[in-house]
Amino acid sequence: MATRDCHPLNKSNAHFASPKGPSLSDRLENYSTWIEARISNGYWPYARNLATPPEPTAKIAYTGRTAHKGINLAVQDYLALSTHPEIKEAAISATRDFGVHSAGSAMLLGNNPLSLQLEAALSDLLHLDHILLFPTGWAAGYGTVTGLIRDYDHIVMDQLAHACLQGGAAAATKNVHRYRHLDVAHAAEILGRIRSTDTQNAILVIAEGVYSMDSDSPDLAALHASCREFRATLLVDVAHDLGCLGDGTGQIGMQGMLGKVDIVMGAFSKTFASNGGFVATSDPRIKRYLQWFANPHTFSNALSPVQCAVVIKAISVIRSQEGETRRRGLLHASTFFRARLRQHGLETLGSPSAIVPVMLGKDAFAREASKAVADSGTFVNLVEFPAVGLGAARFRCQLMATHTDEQLVQAAQDIYDAVLSAGSKLNRRSDQTDAQISVLDG
Ligand SMILES: Cc1ncc(COP(=O)(O)O)c(C=O)c1O
Repeated sequence: MATRDCHPLNKSNAHFASPKGPSLSDRLENYSTWIEARISNGYWPYARNLATPPEPTAKIAYTGRTAHKGINLAVQDYLALSTHPEIKEAAISATRDFGVHSAGSAMLLGNNPLSLQLEAALSDLLHLDHILLFPTGWAAGYGTVTGLIRDYDHIVMDQLAHACLQGGAAAATKNVHRYRHLDVAHAAEILGRIRSTDTQNAILVIAEGVYSMDSDSPDLAALHASCREFRATLLVDVAHDLGCLGDGTGQIGMQGMLGKVDIVMGAFSKTFASNGGFVATSDPRIKRYLQWFANPHTFSNALSPVQCAVVIKAISVIRSQEGETRRRGLLHASTFFRARLRQHGLETLGSPSAIVPVMLGKDAFAREASKAVADSGTFVNLVEFPAVGLGAARFRCQLMATHTDEQLVQAAQDIYDAVLSAGSKLNRRSDQTDAQISVLDG
């Protein structure tokens, strides 16, 4: 059994974020011991592996355990396109025509006719003329921010923006200002303050279409208006909503902002069945500049022909009647599952999207609940610091268009049972959490 110092319920990643000591590896000893204690006591729901395609039921193996089959709410394939027969066929045909790998950076000879076709398809979807492709969504976010912003410029970003944007901001400038989550008035106040002393340098405002841990969305028109007022540029990351919300154009389309946002950045990995990312803009100068100055575009191998073919086909499905039907399926699944969880007295965050966050609270409680759910027939993701704030751990359930009501009823029951089981285990401890108490009372 672990010593109290490395007890698997007692610490968080925050305790290990600044290791000290001259040996880069020796100073990781405590962290390794803590993780080993988590694994051997069943509190390590990370780095699992998927032994089947990412379908609504799947076989998944926890570290050190054999794979078992269950209801899968833990993968990112929102419209269930990864296993779509025509999309798989597109991948096979691209392999035959072009081989399996890109031949270099997009700036050298990494592009192929499919890259250009993909740029055209994205441009048409987003009503923005200029597209730049990246090997991952992360690269698109980090590369765009670091490519455009210099140390004398400013970044005004939602405090919950994704790690690729936060990391890009931290690497680009010390002038990073975070506004309260979704609070456009706060963003405007910060913009006003910056412009009152600095009229010379640029400001990039960063938001997301749907926030990945909270499933909520900002008022994009209001944010855009503030950007115009203070001569700032708006970047919106649409990783979690493009393709799967509204008519397929995500929150930007739903909010009447198609073609109006200065820079749209996204990832193919949630809805478009492939790794990869992009930046879209109406300004050709931004694309031209980023081709050289967005390092992950310039100095990393381009998307492979297979990835391009998959995303092109995914876009065509997304824009068809079938895409509409799949989006309706996803929205139904999300609304239905949220209602079911609430009937159990569980707290869900945000509004319907592919993401359903189930609030747990403190890490100890969340880890107990996660351990209990691992023994059930349902797979979910536990999210704890640094992916969310300390004490704000949650299950992040990610739905697919093809989940059935029956599967979701069972999954909600399994989550509820796991939360109850965690509650009764921790009831004997003095550090009960608010979430636990409210569930037990409810
Ligand atoms: C909001 C957001 N942006 C960007 C990314 C990065 O995308 P990818 O995983 O495709 O690199 C993610 C993925 O987690 C995300 O949630």
